[in-house]
Amino acid sequence: MKDRQYNKSIAVMGGTFDPIHLGHLAVAQTVFEEFSPQKIIFIPSGIPPHKEGVSNKEDRYNMTVLATLNNYFFDVSRMEIDRKGTTYTIDSILELKNEYGQDTKIFFIIGLDIIKDIFYWKNYEQLIKLCEFIVVPRPNINEDEIKEMINKFSKTEIKFTFLEANKLEISSTDIRNKIANNKSIKYLTTPEVESYIIKNRLYKNNKFINIDIDEIDKFIKSELSSYRYTHSIGVAETASMLAERFGDSKEKAYIAGLLHDCAKEKKYEEKLSLCEEYKIDLDPIMRSNPDLSHGLIAAEIAKKNFDIYDENILNAIRYHTTGRKHMTTLEKIVFLADIIEINRGDNPFLKELRDIAIYNLNAGVLLGLKKSMDLCIEKNIIFHPMGLEALNSLESNM
Ligand SMILES: [Fe+2]
Ligand SMILES: [Fe+2]
Repeated sequence: MKDRQYNKSIAVMGGTFDPIHLGHLAVAQTVFEEFSPQKIIFIPSGIPPHKEGVSNKEDRYNMTVLATLNNYFFDVSRMEIDRKGTTYTIDSILELKNEYGQDTKIFFIIGLDIIKDIFYWKNYEQLIKLCEFIVVPRPNINEDEIKEMINKFSKTEIKFTFLEANKLEISSTDIRNKIANNKSIKYLTTPEVESYIIKNRLYKNNKFINIDIDEIDKFIKSELSSYRYTHSIGVAETASMLAERFGDSKEKAYIAGLLHDCAKEKKYEEKLSLCEEYKIDLDPIMRSNPDLSHGLIAAEIAKKNFDIYDENILNAIRYHTTGRKHMTTLEKIVFLADIIEINRGDNPFLKELRDIAIYNLNAGVLLGLKKSMDLCIEKNIIFHPMGLEALNSLESNM
């Protein structure tokens, strides 16, 4: 623990720090030089770990410690991490006043995008009496508009200074997306934080997809007939609806739905040569019926053209034709959405399946698999063994 000396001013920087990056550190350093506080205190927020998009608080705390370890004047506080229940800024400021003395001036570092929300915060009138705000510029946000707004809303006098800082346009979201897409984050955060992220495999399971849906849309439109393009949109929308219902990621479901059939209309020879190019090993059944491989090819296209590396999305695309043993929720969702989406029209079987799918995902997939097995028998073609395995594993769990 670094020494805490009592002095007349400190600066506070709050945030989720998920992860902390060089932009945060550069701002802190500028504040340190411009305002001469005795310390900059980083306070990672205590948002509960189950909240969508926010990592475990101990990881966020550890990364903040690692990033600031080499600077004597930077300190990290656990106060919000350790506080039970909802954490309010005012509570942290009061705690700091107790710790550093009531006469200590507190500079509160805040983003230009956040300061306008301050009037909604708990006990904001007390808060703005206790702090001086240092406002950090943000790209695309107009300073004058914000100043005008602050003056309009502020009944109590609010002290704020706009920081002349280099706009280092690094964002935590960008770092998380890079990790999820296997790209380097060198020079965006400190080497210690980078190693911590790699060692602990943070942000690998991409909950933070930043994939350009419009690009995918354009691509499938160019690859598919208008019938199949409309079907793909239908699958994406139905999958997204089912994901919401069964607690999976709507974004992932939508993306998998859009791409699931992107290789479907390729000619027989092209399918075979793409399998060769992507080193997809076709079993004898798929070799005799290469149409079954269109999911496997589509997953490779998703990787190559759109940098999608999320295995759950890729597998949902891969196995949408056959199914397989132990399918994930997302795989089941896309499998089912492919069958029931609205452009498939209406018939008694689809009506029944749509009714079941909404309430019981497993029962829906099972019924869908049974129907495709029946169709195979009817058409005298082999029902793929992976489908049979899926069917058996679902049946044994019913
Ligand atoms: Fe398909
Ligand atoms: Fe399809």
